[in-house]
Amino acid sequence: MAANQSPQRFAHIIGWGKYVPPNVLTNDELAKRVDTSDAWIRERTGIMERRIVTKETTAMLGLYAAQEALEVADVAPNEIDLIIVATSTPEYIFPATASVIQDQLGADNAGAFDLSAACSGFVYALSVGAAMIRSGQHNTALVIGAETFSKILNWKDRATCILFGDGAGALLLRASDQPGGILSTVLGSDGSGGDLLNVPAGGSRNPASLETVMNNLHTVKMNGREVYRFATRVMVDATKQALVKANLPLTELDLLIPHQANARIIDYAARTLQLPPEKVFQNVEHYGNTSAASIPLALVEAIEAKRVNPGDHLVMVGFGGGLSWGSCAVEWTAPTDKRLITPQRAAQSRLRYRWANFKSFSHRVLRRVDSGVTHVLDRIEGRQNGHSG
Ligand code: UT7
Repeated sequence: MAANQSPQRFAHIIGWGKYVPPNVLTNDELAKRVDTSDAWIRERTGIMERRIVTKETTAMLGLYAAQEALEVADVAPNEIDLIIVATSTPEYIFPATASVIQDQLGADNAGAFDLSAACSGFVYALSVGAAMIRSGQHNTALVIGAETFSKILNWKDRATCILFGDGAGALLLRASDQPGGILSTVLGSDGSGGDLLNVPAGGSRNPASLETVMNNLHTVKMNGREVYRFATRVMVDATKQALVKANLPLTELDLLIPHQANARIIDYAARTLQLPPEKVFQNVEHYGNTSAASIPLALVEAIEAKRVNPGDHLVMVGFGGGLSWGSCAVEWTAPTDKRLITPQRAAQSRLRYRWANFKSFSHRVLRRVDSGVTHVLDRIEGRQNGHSG
């Protein structure tokens, strides 16, 4: 290394968390709403049930997953300097869901933005977070995938409403001079397939109107067969590309964490890559397709199932609307035996988040008081100036 050259930086995963709403919707329950059956859904998708929010919002799911990731890493919110939320079901068009979560976490030193790349969103966000760390711009980045797809489904369309569910997952990245962590990322897009999977209205092309609402244009439309064909191709190609970029032969891959859209797509990729079942993680049966949340949700469950250990090589691979795809090779470095959270530690965290809520509330109140008082003072000053003039 030349004398004036700064040491190489790596982005390691040091914390992980997930949250799914407790409300379960089974295939049998769905079969009471649309013309489908448990047998059809299981056979064609592998899905048995999914979680659907009742009162929770996307930011709440993301917040709970993020809090768990911070607990695991034993990192305080004010140590985070970047928050990225991958979502297609944000809290609002703006402000960003990431800003809502930043406020509720009390992450006072963090920049925050949302990233939209549909079901590939989490891998895109991880890629950006890792690049920011490697470049020296940031030290600690919180990357969240959070979705409430149930809010944008047409519950009368059996071709789509059976597929999706709600949830969130989060990873905490930190800079280190030790090799490992995020080894490579591959991002791809083919916008010519945008109409194969989309929500046609609510953007600037088709703003919300009575007509868009009446025609159900604020819900997911999909050409399932075409997306299926695209998915089987890119899952395999993108996995191989991430490995090549990371200088890893396929035999060095310990676990593939694929986007959980359909068990048949995952099985196809595993067969084509000649990976045995123990090298491919799958939980689509319990959650359906949670879009940008699906990969972190799967990774966290793989860790909980003790299928991830220090030294392992993983590939996360996703695809979805855009059309878009992304993959990421990782050398896992963090100990995965989850730290025991003492009651004292849990109480400390609760207090921290209550304090963040209180601070946020008082900032809002003070801002209003400030604006009201300034307005009155300006008027008085204006009147005085008027009189004197
Ligand atoms: O994150 C990316 C998100 N999207 C995806 O990953 C979707 C990828 N595509 C798929 O997973 C599959 O294409 C589906 C699961 C969506 C559909 O499976 P398929 O084997 O490709 O079925 P299909 O679309 O070819 O439809 C076969 C039949 C049709 O009936 P006909 O025309 O053969 O009489 C459909 O109308 O199945 C019918 N069908 C259903 N039947 C019962 C479609 N949806 C349902 C349903 N229940 N829910």
